[in-house]
Amino acid sequence: MSDQYSTLPALDSLLDYAQQAALHAYAPYSKFRVGAALQLTNGEIVSGTNVENVSYGLTICAERSALVRAVSQFGPEIRIAAVAIANLNKAASPPCGACRQVLAEFIVPEAPVLFPAASGLRTMAFSELLPLSFDMKLK
Ligand code: THU
Repeated sequence: MSDQYSTLPALDSLLDYAQQAALHAYAPYSKFRVGAALQLTNGEIVSGTNVENVSYGLTICAERSALVRAVSQFGPEIRIAAVAIANLNKAASPPCGACRQVLAEFIVPEAPVLFPAASGLRTMAFSELLPLSFDMKLK
């Protein structure tokens, strides 16, 4: 790692959780095995992996899988303080657009997101990854 967040030990250990989760991937179609780990503001760590389906579009990504698990386990008040993403394919895997929008619902805007990029591991604040998420201002 070679950026401003690289000294945070918590992010390194969060990456270990993401890597462990990727071992459980169900990815018989793409063979792309992804893991995501969320650090919640309550200190809990929740991980998830991608779960594919023979009807390809029904696949759930690792990031959303972790998020759904976190809400199910700890309730709708959770806030995400940091995210780490890993894959077992030695490839870049920044979170997809759908996952960014879904994370936006629960994440602290400045939360660091660590992911494998083409240049190696990269960390960006969530608000940099998705500067203008959809939000409904209900009147
Ligand atoms: N995938 C993720 O788990 N996260 C992403 O952000 C993008 C893609 C998964 C979905 C699918 O199982 C495989 O990677 C290939 O697209």
